[in-house]
Amino acid sequence: MKNDKILVIDFGGSHKELIARKIRDRQVYCEVLPFEKAASTLETQEVIGMILTGPTGRTPSEEAVEETKYFLTTGLPILGIGYGMTALSLALGGGITQLAEVAPHPLETTLDTSSDLFKGLEAQGQGWLDLSQYTKQLPSGFRTIGSSDNCPIAAMENKDKAIYGLQFHPESPYTQGGDVIISNFMDICGAQRKWKIEDYAVQAVEKIRKQVGDKKVLLGLSGGVDSSVCAKLIDQAVGSQLTCIFVDHGLLRKDEGKLVQEAFQGSGMNLVMVDARDRFLDKLEGVTDPEEKRKIIGEEFIRVFEDQGKEIGSVDFLAQGTIYPDIIESGGDGAQVIKSHHNVGGLPSVIDFKSLIEPLRILFKDEVRKLGVQLGLEERFVSRQPFPGPGLAVRIMGEITREKIAILQEADAIFREEIGQAGLHKDLGQYFAVLTNNKTVGVKDGKRTYAYTLALRAVRTEDYMTAAWAPIPYEVLDRTSRRIIEEVDHINRVVYDITSKPPGTIEWE
Ligand code: XMP
Repeated sequence: MKNDKILVIDFGGSHKELIARKIRDRQVYCEVLPFEKAASTLETQEVIGMILTGPTGRTPSEEAVEETKYFLTTGLPILGIGYGMTALSLALGGGITQLAEVAPHPLETTLDTSSDLFKGLEAQGQGWLDLSQYTKQLPSGFRTIGSSDNCPIAAMENKDKAIYGLQFHPESPYTQGGDVIISNFMDICGAQRKWKIEDYAVQAVEKIRKQVGDKKVLLGLSGGVDSSVCAKLIDQAVGSQLTCIFVDHGLLRKDEGKLVQEAFQGSGMNLVMVDARDRFLDKLEGVTDPEEKRKIIGEEFIRVFEDQGKEIGSVDFLAQGTIYPDIIESGGDGAQVIKSHHNVGGLPSVIDFKSLIEPLRILFKDEVRKLGVQLGLEERFVSRQPFPGPGLAVRIMGEITREKIAILQEADAIFREEIGQAGLHKDLGQYFAVLTNNKTVGVKDGKRTYAYTLALRAVRTEDYMTAAWAPIPYEVLDRTSRRIIEEVDHINRVVYDITSKPPGTIEWE
């Protein structure tokens, strides 16, 4: 039995995936499509309704209005939001105001709660209104179901045809009851709430099989959540046609290679483990500048891939674990994001490939985690914190030596273990140890020591653009500090970093 599908039809706005995600959260499959591509999908049976959304502060183009007229011929329930509502009004012969220079903002809105769209809501609430233009004259057959002082027709409906318009944005956190409105529209569409992330896996596997055929796929596996889930998904789809390359540059966390090997090689995946430790560490000898470290690692990484690429020959597809937030971060509506785990951006140019596969492109991080578990990755694997491409190189201050790496790996493993045991990991965006280049005097077993100071860093963050230092309980810090000094040679002092971002950054270098 097929799942119901609601389409978010995009005229170029920025919150479309957020709407789609809210619908998926309510167990109905939802996909975003640019308006030019929507028609072909609409011909399939499963689409049960659509939401039209576009940029704020723009008048619908003639093309958008023409497409909207086509969408109206389907007879499916439609919800137009902001630009989508004005496009509906124009397509239906209503009138809109001229464009005004008004940024969207929350305004008191009165709602007609007898409308199915506003069922369960208070009659008075706040809506995040896009007032750059709005419907001035209702199309025939419609009635006003919401208004505010500045916008007399803030919402409209034609109940018989199941067509609705909202000048305010239900996906905005500033709109009260926005989730209820989206949910009500799903009911208007008659959506059966039974979609699960497992269904996404089934669909994605089918799509990858179709796309890849009998060709070869290459994936750079970092051991991070996104590339790991991507690897599992493609492995399930095309098995031995996929080759994953894992590069150990010598600056990974303790036992990282082993962990990745256990998670993937055991399942029979085609995994190439490249031990490039000496190559990287030789190049980094004597280097102390953080950007220089990044540059060397980035460049060397490309070299290693180049060498591997030569062995593999030309591949047909390069796979990437790009997820939706990566696309937003790189400013890219529709832009192809080239993501390597070093953020180098140059990787694909050294690999001869014909096209890119990005099966996680529409998903948010927590959806990717759920998918990972579904695909057989352990919970502790998919809930891993992010780890920077240059790895421990930017957590060892000053010159990088094999000895310093070993010290940091041990200390960091203890900190992570203690955080995990205290059950704090779910609350933290990132937590790790930093080896400073500072030596201080201490005493151990009655003898003077002169050894490194280790810093512990733990932050809470949603987006990694800002972060707050985390108030870790004293007992956990105390236990971690005692254990590190006891168990790790060459460290005799542990400090805790209480700097938020800004003004600090999360990493020390
Ligand atoms: P900062 O230190 O800038 O870090 O506050 C923000 C996030 O980015 C990660 N980070 C990196 N990731 N290559 C990466 O792949 C890098 O060079 C790099 N530098 C920082 C950092 O771990 C945090 O999650």
